[in-house]
Amino acid sequence: MSHPNPHIQKVSILGSETIILGFHIFDYLLRDTLSNFKASTYVVVTDTNLQKLYLDRFLASFHRISQELSSGTLPRLLTYVIPPGEESKSRAVKAEIEDYFLAQGCTRDTLVFAMGGGVIGDLVGFVAATFMRGIPFVQVPTTLLAMVDSSIGGKTAIDTPMAKNPIGAFWQPKRIFIDLAVLETLPEREFVNGMAEVIKTAAIWNHDDFVLLENGAEAIRDAVLKPVRNVEFQGAILESRTAAQQLLLQVVMASVAVKSYVVTHDERETGMRGLLNFGHSIGHAIEGLVTPKLLHGECVAIGMIKEAEIARHCGYLSQVAVGRLTRCIQAYGLPVTMEDKFVKNHIGNQYCSVDELMQVLRVDKKNMGSQKRIVMLSGIGQTLEQKPSNISDDIIRKVLAASTVVHPRPINQPAVTLSPPGSKSISNRALVLAALGQGTCRLTGLLHSDDTQVMLTALTKLGAATFEWENNGDTLVVHGNGGKMHIPDSELYLGNAGTAARFLTTVSVLVPPSSISGQKTILTGNARMKQRPIAPLIDALTANGSELKYMEGQGCLPLEVTPFSHGLAGGEIQLAASISSQYVSSILLCAPYATKEPVTLVLTGGQVISQPYIDMTIAMMKSFGVNVEALPNNTYRIPQVHYVNPAAYLVEADASSATYPLAIAAITGTTCTVPNIGSASLQGDAGFAVNVLRPMGCTVVQTETSTTVIGPAIGTLKPLAHIDMETMTDAFLTASVLAAVTQPATPGAENITRISGIANQRVKECNRIAAMMHELGKFGVTTSETPDGIIVHGHDIASLTPPKDGVKCYDDHRVAMSFSVLASVVPGGTIIREKKCVEKTWPTWWDDLESKLNGRITDADLGVPSDHHDYEVKSSSSKKSAGAKSDATIVVIGMRGAGKTSMGRFAARTLKRPFEDVDHYFEKTLSTTIPEFIKEHGWPAFREQEAKMLTELLAKYPTKHVISCGGGIVETASSREAFKQYITQGGVVIHLVRNINEIEAYLNRDTTRPMYGESMRDVWARREAWYRECCNYEFVVAGQQLKGIEAEDAKEWALVESNFERFLKVITRAGKGKYASRSQVVAKPTFFLSLTFPDISPALPHLSKLTLGSDVIELRVDLLKSSDASGISFRDHVAQQVSLLRRHSDLPILYTVRSVSQGGQWPDKDIDGMVSLLKDGLEWGVEYLDVEIGLPRSRIDEVLPKKGNTLIVASWHDCKGTVRWNSDTMEAQYKLAHSISPDVIKLIGTATSMKDNFDCSEFAARHTKANDLPLIAMNMGAQGQLSRVLNNYLTPVTHKLLPVKAAPGQLTARDILIARNAVGLLPAKQFYLFGTPIRQSLSPLMHNTSFQSLGLPYTYDLHETETVDESVVAKMRSKDFGGASVTIPHKIDVMSKLDEITEEAKAIGAVNTVVPVEQEGKPSILVGDNTDWLGIYYQIERNLSSTSVAQPQQMKGLVLGAGGTSRAALYALHRLGVEDISIFNRTMVKAQAVADSFKNLFDVKVLSSNDLLKGSSASGFDLVVSTVPGTIESASMFDDSVFGSAKKGVAVELAYTPRFTRFLKMAQQSGWATVEGGQVLVEQGGWQALKWVGRRWDLESVQQQMDLVQAGRE
Ligand SMILES: NC(=O)c1ccc[n+]([C@@H]2O[C@H](COP(=O)([O-])OP(=O)(O)OC[C@H]3O[C@@H](n4cnc5c(N)ncnc54)[C@H](O)[C@@H]3O)[C@@H](O)[C@H]2O)c1
Ligand SMILES: [Zn+2]
Repeated sequence: MSHPNPHIQKVSILGSETIILGFHIFDYLLRDTLSNFKASTYVVVTDTNLQKLYLDRFLASFHRISQELSSGTLPRLLTYVIPPGEESKSRAVKAEIEDYFLAQGCTRDTLVFAMGGGVIGDLVGFVAATFMRGIPFVQVPTTLLAMVDSSIGGKTAIDTPMAKNPIGAFWQPKRIFIDLAVLETLPEREFVNGMAEVIKTAAIWNHDDFVLLENGAEAIRDAVLKPVRNVEFQGAILESRTAAQQLLLQVVMASVAVKSYVVTHDERETGMRGLLNFGHSIGHAIEGLVTPKLLHGECVAIGMIKEAEIARHCGYLSQVAVGRLTRCIQAYGLPVTMEDKFVKNHIGNQYCSVDELMQVLRVDKKNMGSQKRIVMLSGIGQTLEQKPSNISDDIIRKVLAASTVVHPRPINQPAVTLSPPGSKSISNRALVLAALGQGTCRLTGLLHSDDTQVMLTALTKLGAATFEWENNGDTLVVHGNGGKMHIPDSELYLGNAGTAARFLTTVSVLVPPSSISGQKTILTGNARMKQRPIAPLIDALTANGSELKYMEGQGCLPLEVTPFSHGLAGGEIQLAASISSQYVSSILLCAPYATKEPVTLVLTGGQVISQPYIDMTIAMMKSFGVNVEALPNNTYRIPQVHYVNPAAYLVEADASSATYPLAIAAITGTTCTVPNIGSASLQGDAGFAVNVLRPMGCTVVQTETSTTVIGPAIGTLKPLAHIDMETMTDAFLTASVLAAVTQPATPGAENITRISGIANQRVKECNRIAAMMHELGKFGVTTSETPDGIIVHGHDIASLTPPKDGVKCYDDHRVAMSFSVLASVVPGGTIIREKKCVEKTWPTWWDDLESKLNGRITDADLGVPSDHHDYEVKSSSSKKSAGAKSDATIVVIGMRGAGKTSMGRFAARTLKRPFEDVDHYFEKTLSTTIPEFIKEHGWPAFREQEAKMLTELLAKYPTKHVISCGGGIVETASSREAFKQYITQGGVVIHLVRNINEIEAYLNRDTTRPMYGESMRDVWARREAWYRECCNYEFVVAGQQLKGIEAEDAKEWALVESNFERFLKVITRAGKGKYASRSQVVAKPTFFLSLTFPDISPALPHLSKLTLGSDVIELRVDLLKSSDASGISFRDHVAQQVSLLRRHSDLPILYTVRSVSQGGQWPDKDIDGMVSLLKDGLEWGVEYLDVEIGLPRSRIDEVLPKKGNTLIVASWHDCKGTVRWNSDTMEAQYKLAHSISPDVIKLIGTATSMKDNFDCSEFAARHTKANDLPLIAMNMGAQGQLSRVLNNYLTPVTHKLLPVKAAPGQLTARDILIARNAVGLLPAKQFYLFGTPIRQSLSPLMHNTSFQSLGLPYTYDLHETETVDESVVAKMRSKDFGGASVTIPHKIDVMSKLDEITEEAKAIGAVNTVVPVEQEGKPSILVGDNTDWLGIYYQIERNLSSTSVAQPQQMKGLVLGAGGTSRAALYALHRLGVEDISIFNRTMVKAQAVADSFKNLFDVKVLSSNDLLKGSSASGFDLVVSTVPGTIESASMFDDSVFGSAKKGVAVELAYTPRFTRFLKMAQQSGWATVEGGQVLVEQGGWQALKWVGRRWDLESVQQQMDLVQAGRE
């Protein structure tokens, strides 16, 4: 079909008609351009999205039209396509385009088409503005935003990493061609984004345009999102243009016209053009914090509402207008608050604090000082001034803040009059009645609220009626459809609007089937709504032949309603009416439309709740022409006649709302009149003034339609001994706050108010009885609960204390408003949280409280809002604590046989704390044994006493102790409560977990323990949950299914203990110890190994090889899989894996649960699972925890408080590879990560070019410099490997033995070090051994082996000299010096050549290690250290558990020999905690000299040979270290009586030839643990290397190498 000549429309700007609108106008635009703007070259610049969709068509048109027009040479056409997105609006892309133009030989005789959205328009416009000092260009905007906004006005710009649009020019396009047909391919979100600007323009400029938008939402959306395509080029000519297209054109053109007008009159933005910034001041502030997660228009939408609220607050704008604006914005799918589901879905729970928003607002160039320039609406379509107005910061803060502070109302207030909003009940009923009715009805006084909005939207979707507003929104005109409806094309989302849900349930039963079979009506709501009951109504309707199905939880929304042509059948309907009268009203309202026979409604269940509401419904039905006949026994007969709409209906004020201003008069001793409700009201709550306030001591004056209350003097309200509020249940909250401040009628009389008849309030927006008790309690008010009410004790006003963290409102408007009544007298100012919840019934409450009731209000921002769904108001304390204190006493619980006592003792020993045992304490205190006690008093008495003992012990030793408990202690509720309490106070309770099979095996073997009457398995099953509930840490004892008795051997326990020790260090934040001292060494770069095993057990034997060169091990929890066969839960599996890792490696663990969208395997949807695994990780005491910042902030905040000593890594991965390092997005991610106060930030990009690696490295350098916070910054992908080489801190690495790489492009630590050497980041270094004779030394072998396996370009050589001469000094001071070992005879002499000596080396009096410490800008300093003692220390420590004595403090230590090494041995014993230390040497004076040298540090006994003789009192050692050189047989110095006692100990030999000396043989024969000299040497060497290069070695393989060589020598 040939292209029709399109019908176009023109808009003039800056004096000429250069804006052209229409559908399918490519041909037109080319003909127009080619004939009016002749050029030798035309260039189309567009993005790849549009290239696919439109470029071919555009080019075809170009060629056709240019041929058509030309007689001679055809003009040249070039195209240039760039990637889509804001990232392209950069200097780089601008330069690319310019280079392309130059390369193509473009001259001034060139015209550019900018075909695309605002990005293309801004960028290409700027190119045109500066290329050859300006060339002509034409805008072909393709997004709605570009059409109505960015293409018009001549502003062009690009972004820089620092800001949006800071560089640009004013450059007007020659033409702007708006082809609305291209909107059909625009993604919905982009269309909606553009609508924000359209709504904005109408809102500031033209009421009629706004009405078009208000009423045309559905059609306009359809025109773009569901276009009709009956003919080709639909809409090009008027004949084929649909009504929806026409409307779309109309609103777009209106918007274009306004912008053009404004630009024409103020091209350079000096005044009027500022009006176009409506919604943008606050919108930009939000955008600044959440970009790119929200689009510009989405932020502006929220900004418009906030700015309108500011106008409302200042009294410039009515609530009706705010409501209309809100609903109009929502109608197009735009968000209106930061709490919107839509917003949450995109930004998670990122919280934008008022301070942050104000900060961004402050830098807005249009502002000044403490005033901001914001456009003030004064009505729909009009503004207060012809420019933005000055608004003070206070007001902005007040509107933005999520919480409000209500201060005491100033005293001596004059009488006030206040009209509360219309009744919600009456509004909702009136809407249903008028919609179902025939004819037009004008409703006035209608409540403008979420509830009525939900109702309006739903009725519109059902086609039940059409609505329009009159009198600036004061009147709603309802054109009823007489009960005719259709199935809505999407679900009816009812939020938390209870009335709407109940009423609409029966309404939706009336909907007939549609032509499409299977279509159903779906009613749904928010999370809370999905818990509110609706079953009685559904039961009644189902019994009547309707089909309503629960789609999720039984008895609640969401519902699926099957349409039947018979609708509501009618006849007798039975309904249980004791929970909510809304069910009754729901059926009553729809009953006239029964099809088969008239409805007879029989209310069952005895008591009918809220009769007044039923009466209200019946009375209102009468106003709409239907008379309900009330029969005896709660039965109603409803005739089958349709409603006839009255011409007008006035909605009365909400009586519950009226209680708040009246109560403020009552509590503050002032006068208040409510003019639109009185004694004639149908609403039960209208009785509040007469039945509650009057008896409390107020004067009440009432007419049929008005009520006035005069309060008694402040502080003199009287309590009501009993008040039944059944007829006004919603007002009980107001009554409760008044009851909280009563004074007894006569001194000493009772001061208690008892409210009954309000049981239904437990199932309202929240459990209101619980909520009131909880919140009143925070002020110090005493309350209690009865089955159907609440008891409140009166309290002195002066001593009421407002809660520090504010009143929580549970998303319940009544809670918020009633507490603002109380707050108007409470001294000091009361914070009311979630202030927005009042919008449900009284959106202007806070404004009215301030301006009409003369209250005083300020703002408060308490950070992340509390969870709105926490409506249950839990009374019992849960154990969640603010984190354990480091010196808190450690309590150990767990099953019997799990090792509580031995592990408890071990903990006491390592932490040097006293040990207590609940059982012992019990027996000691009561002077009995436990079995005796049980025999005499029975089990319950024992458990009770046990709980008492526990509480006593915790009170007595709250800090610095270790307490072990009996296995069954958790069986008692009071003990459990005591544990939880203790945790809340910062205590530590560790649950020791051990595989139940092992426990059974262990207990069965141990015949000294009586068997349980019950199987261990059953006991465990019963207690498991209790243990978990009572602990805040968990330690898995063996972590590996131990088989048989070997499991119990010393080595096994030693492993468990060192595992436990590390765990203790993490949870107690103990600064000293193995882990801490190792981590102090800062190697550069550092690495972590990502373990990708589904189960790490098989890999454990290779762990030391795998982790070679790594500083941390990452456990990728998301990759773990527990085998189905093992029968253990996933959590237990993970716990085991953590424990196994810790057992087999002493590297810190980085615990990571990575979701699919971040390149892992954990399902993105299962946030709950992820969060609970993270918390578990903290319970298991891991050293590092990875937290994805993409998680909702509230979920992150659940995890962080438990962190203890664990370091938090805030991580973010750009797996899609769309974010560049120099973009705002990456900056925003850094900021977001920073906002959770992590210990490390990890940002991972994806490289598509080498440049990305340099950008990344530059980003890292900049941020590391600016913030003293470690940053891991790298790129994934093969192209990104360089960034892994360049990254300095904790680079993730792989190993060839791993099953898969954790991420694409991962390298091994060795690869990286070799690469760093190659690129000059890691210079070669030289190490030496100084001493003589040293030719036999094993050190070069040892160190060179390890340097090589690590990939370090280092060499270790011998340097044999007689003295510490110049050659030694020269080597040490040379630039490539890496470090040295020093041996006999230079250990002392070398000291004078060094710059610093460590404490340890000073104490020992010898240096065996020289470490050059780099200094920035200066030559390195030489530090002398000693690692000899470390070799001895750790080798003894590894064997400690095989000794008979538990604590080193009680051990006896002996050092043989008095040479240099003996000093290191003595020092090692001292550091282990041994107090009884002796030395023996053949020449006693020498021994004495050594002992004397430690005089200031510790005592050393000098033994004579006699002392060592058999049977001597001095024997009985636990630790013996021989330092006698290997050539002297040390054992000849004494006989085996040293080892002969009953005790078992550890013998350490320092000589290493021969490998197994006689000394060791004697020790072994006595059953002692033995340590060979070679082992000490390797251990020591490992420490030496660690000090030099900051890197551990694979001790095992070094040891193997050494053994080989030694074996060869022997
Ligand atoms: N100069 C001004 O006065 C002014 C005013 C407002 C905004 N802006 C600028 O406009 C830019 C935002 O413009 P935007 O919202 O148009 O975003 P955009 O240009 O990034 O376009 C949005 C997305 O829609 C795609 N797209 C565009 N038209 C399409 C179509 N017809 N069918 C399918 N996909 C299509 C694009 O490829 C892109 O992915 C910002 O950089 C902003 O600063 C400038
Ligand atoms: Zn804008």
